Amino acid sequence: MKNIIKTLTLAAGISLAATNLGAQPALKDVFKNDFIIGAALNPSHFCETNAREAALVKQHFNAITSENALKWESVHPAPGRYDFTLADRYVAFGEKNGMFIVGHTLVWHNQTPDWVFKDDQGKLATRELLLQRMRDHIIAVVGRYKGRIKGWDVVNEAVEESGTLRQSQWMKIIGEDYLLKAYQFAHEADPRAELYYNDYWLERPLKGKGALALIKKLQSQGAKIHAVGLQGHYSLDFPDIAQLDRTISEFAKLGVKVNITELDVDVLPWVPPDPQVASVFMIFKSSAQLDPYTNGLPDSVQQELAQRYSKLFSTFLRHRNEIERVSFWGVTDAGSWLNSWPIQGRTNYPLLFDRQGRPKPAFDSVIQLPTR
Ligand code: GLA
Repeated sequence: MKNIIKTLTLAAGISLAATNLGAQPALKDVFKNDFIIGAALNPSHFCETNAREAALVKQHFNAITSENALKWESVHPAPGRYDFTLADRYVAFGEKNGMFIVGHTLVWHNQTPDWVFKDDQGKLATRELLLQRMRDHIIAVVGRYKGRIKGWDVVNEAVEESGTLRQSQWMKIIGEDYLLKAYQFAHEADPRAELYYNDYWLERPLKGKGALALIKKLQSQGAKIHAVGLQGHYSLDFPDIAQLDRTISEFAKLGVKVNITELDVDVLPWVPPDPQVASVFMIFKSSAQLDPYTNGLPDSVQQELAQRYSKLFSTFLRHRNEIERVSFWGVTDAGSWLNSWPIQGRTNYPLLFDRQGRPKPAFDSVIQLPTR
């Protein structure tokens, strides 16, 4: 895969970002012999209505993930009704720009409409009905983009913080083998697509252990899992670098690749201080104390963020033989989900590009690292 991307990059000529700060090397060129570099896109990027950010995406990234366009609620909002309008635009954008296109995500407990788990009478679906729905969905969605979307987050977030399997509707109605079935259906729909398991906080010992056991079991049952995605929703002090190092090595030892799939670094005070449960629906009230940088990020924190990114990327580079892709969750600070989660309307600074699309000190810190 790296070779394909390398050829594409060379064919396009090594690109230099002409920003008003002077020529900046493109991230995808800096890391071209280490891993591909991705970003999660929203429609303003792939429909190019935000021209500045769309240009930034083309300049710096050779892999893309759709933030929402391929989630169940977007492509399959009602029984028997599919809507691929945005997903088609997303895939076309990736193809036009020679990017590695990721499909996110097929089976998840969030952003999946309620009808999926109900029968025609509004009662809980049976195992057979839900399995049939899962298969229909996967065959339709993966099948539509066969050979074009190169890798799929087949199952997202199946493990709880405790390391046990999440008691989602998938689990409750189908049972544990919903996981194996999901990988089988995806493989059936596109035998050449890479299949991934994607989750957050796998660096935490209990959750990591649970996910390792899950992957081992799926492998023993014949599931074709190409890579595990560490989402990489990090902060200035989580995870500890030794923990991250260990996590990457442990998964790699199972014979899977490891991808960093949703990278961002939260710089704001975290609430609650040590949550046992993270959910995209967790919303808390804001206060000045919890939103301290509305007028800009102080230099000291800017530097801390730069050092943090430098340490994270040094770790990724040490594991370059195990890591195939590092993808950010968003393009610039302006569009990051961390401005609205877990508290709405805060001003966060989690990415490498600021609200105007200018590279931050964190960008400089990662491009200075010794690469291959
Ligand atoms: C999880 C999901 C993503 C996205 C983020 C928050 O990490 O995998 O699709 O919803 O949460 O935006």
